[in-house]
Amino acid sequence: MTAGAGGGRVTVVIGSAGRRLYLIEWFRDALARLDVDGEVVATEHDPTSASFGFADRGVVMPAYSDAAYAPAMLDLFERARPALFVSVNDYELQLLSEGLADRLRATGCAVAGLSRAAQEQASDKYLMARLLGRAGVAVPRTELGSRWEALVAEDGAAGTQYVVKHRFGSGSSGLRLTDREGLAAAVDEASGSATDIHGRPALRARDAVVVQRRLMGQEFGVDGVFGLGRETGVLRGTLARRKMRMRSGETDKAVTVDPAPFAPVVARLGAALRPAGPVDLDLIRDRDGVLRVIDVNPRFGGGYPFMHVAGADAPTYLLAAALGRRADPALLRYQPGVVGAKYESIRRTGALVERATGGA
Ligand SMILES: Nc1ncnc2c1ncn2[C@@H]1O[C@H](COP(=O)(O)OP(=O)(O)O)[C@@H](O)[C@H]1O
Ligand SMILES: [Mg+2]
Repeated sequence: MTAGAGGGRVTVVIGSAGRRLYLIEWFRDALARLDVDGEVVATEHDPTSASFGFADRGVVMPAYSDAAYAPAMLDLFERARPALFVSVNDYELQLLSEGLADRLRATGCAVAGLSRAAQEQASDKYLMARLLGRAGVAVPRTELGSRWEALVAEDGAAGTQYVVKHRFGSGSSGLRLTDREGLAAAVDEASGSATDIHGRPALRARDAVVVQRRLMGQEFGVDGVFGLGRETGVLRGTLARRKMRMRSGETDKAVTVDPAPFAPVVARLGAALRPAGPVDLDLIRDRDGVLRVIDVNPRFGGGYPFMHVAGADAPTYLLAAALGRRADPALLRYQPGVVGAKYESIRRTGALVERATGGA
């Protein structure tokens, strides 16, 4: 085993892996594949989470909402000097983009994610649709919940179907499918549980919901893998699958497909957002054959495993890039036509720690 860039052991940190143990495993494989001695560290708020004890080392972090979170992250990075940090939590990505990622980068770590301005747009389904539209990427017509009547006035042919969803949501939160007659009620219902960009109950709830024309067609999931550091914003690979079944807002079964038709869409999105690392997109090929983007997540999404089992190896690609090595684009190739299905599993985690609540 050889040492990493700085001569010592190589540390990869994965933020909030939660149930996604495969990411920890595949980054561990990446260390081995690149023949470097190192460890995968999982940062988690909850030490009983499945990933915590599965990593080579688990580090408990304060809640994102806690002022102690950023100093604790900086402290870890100053001590462990990781080469690469990827988070898979949207609220953590939000905090990272607000300045923390740059402070972590100053410790010498490659941090995946978006700039503050780009993150603000990516986590907002309304702003994202507008930005992509301007960047030449096809999107469904999108309006704020408070302006649903404007959408109906524009293309309200009888029989048109609509989608209502949380503007800052994920995992299909607030999702309602309805026709024109049910739209007002669907907006009201989705508003009732809508949150703001930080996950707190939204104040102007009908503006925290978006309404879109419902696209009818096949749905695809795509990962764009972008460079790190000086290569930020440079598209290195496109990984695509057709969704066959969804479960709890995640792709449950999918078949890998040729990335060629998706690459120009991902490249345009990349030019607009300049991401570092992986970006997960949802697209629907509408009845007119146009690929329209409905959702953008600037991280490893729940669809990446379908690409990995078909031969892609984004973790090794990203780790090589983070170590300043020549990252081989062949690592982002895969076999089309591979069907993958997720399954349940369980592991024993840490002991439950009773916290004192004060009083008698
Ligand atoms: N405009 C739309 N037309 C058709 N289906 C949609 C549309 N918007 C969302 N959906 C469906 O709802 C799911 C969740 O919506 P999405 O925009 O991906 O939000 P989330 O952030 O919750 O994943 C999608 O995977 C898709 O199946
Ligand atoms: Mg989605």
